[in-house]
Amino acid sequence: MNVTHASFSGLDLLASAVLLIDQDQAVRYINAAGENLLAASSRMLIGKTLGSVCTCSATLQSAIDNGLLNNWGYTGQNIELKRADGEVLRLNCTVTPLRPDVALGMRLLLELQPIDHHLAATREERLIEQQQANRELIRNLAHEIKNPLGGLRGAAQLLEHELANPSLKEYTQVIIKEADRLQDLMQRLLTPHRAMLPATVNIHEILERVRSLLTAEFPGSLQMRRDYDTSLPELVGDREQLIQAVLNIARNAAQAMQGEGEIVLRTRSLRQVTLAKKRYRLAMEIKVIDNGPGIPDEIRERMFYPLVSGREGGSGLGLTIAQNFIQHHHGTIDCHSRPGRTIFVLRLPIEQA
Ligand SMILES: Nc1ncnc2c1ncn2[C@@H]1O[C@H](COP(=O)(O)OP(=O)(O)O)[C@@H](O)[C@H]1O
Ligand SMILES: [Mg+2]
Repeated sequence: MNVTHASFSGLDLLASAVLLIDQDQAVRYINAAGENLLAASSRMLIGKTLGSVCTCSATLQSAIDNGLLNNWGYTGQNIELKRADGEVLRLNCTVTPLRPDVALGMRLLLELQPIDHHLAATREERLIEQQQANRELIRNLAHEIKNPLGGLRGAAQLLEHELANPSLKEYTQVIIKEADRLQDLMQRLLTPHRAMLPATVNIHEILERVRSLLTAEFPGSLQMRRDYDTSLPELVGDREQLIQAVLNIARNAAQAMQGEGEIVLRTRSLRQVTLAKKRYRLAMEIKVIDNGPGIPDEIRERMFYPLVSGREGGSGLGLTIAQNFIQHHHGTIDCHSRPGRTIFVLRLPIEQA
């Protein structure tokens, strides 16, 4: 049967995943949302059964069997589906049998909708608003602190000159040093101090740079594995900001594992996605995956806030800066973490819809 992808291209614009299945349970068509949901390209899926590319729950499998055998439709909530990469999805599913005479050999229409999709979108919007408010507050505070800090330091210096007893200089030195440290911190809170320098950049060149920096920083037992989709096109962005963003995230992973463990840098393409409320035809996903201890529970909700750190001597600015830089590129950062597996997901737009 000669079914072109173009005949269904309207389905690519849908937010829910749509699959068409033939009499032998083989996938004959999958839309862009479906590819994203199953984290596999249509090229990998077409011609295969759903069960051979992921683990369907018994309920879903019998709904498919019944649709083919008996022409029964099915709607189910909270169905589990385990993807090839191990991720478990919770879905609302609909199976609709198609009339054989009009369906060009296709027998079932399968619709899959992630349950937390809607929740996640509103949560992301709330988060972005909250982050903007936080950044505003922090910038204002940093400005307010910087000026009196300069006065404090100057006064301590003057005092130092007037001191008759040189051993008392130890105290003025403490004031001066601490004022300098605070000044430096305020300066970093006021980042970015430099404007974006957009150019055409290759994401894999950026990831390779991060890889070589970290391998040098943690010589020995840190493994850095790459899993690149080399067909990804270049994107327009600020090279230094992107390196810094990925480096901050990957360095956290290396530090959490104390240099002993594995970090995977993975890239994939995404089609038809919404990032920060805007729709894109093409985007890329960069995953930084580590097998370290996971994000400590106490800071998980707040880790992107400035000054929130879970480690001795941390500034708590790494993730804030990474998030800032990714947002400059109209992208998003997400994180899933449990002991043994932490994934930071960066999504960056390439082409607007
Ligand atoms: N991959 C990770 N594994 C475990 N903990 C992490 C990971 N990434 C970030 N964290 C936690 O988040 C905290 C905040 O990170 P960050 O903003 O870079 O600040 P800092 O590294 O200065 O503490 C870290 O201190 C660490 O506790
Ligand atoms: Mg850090």
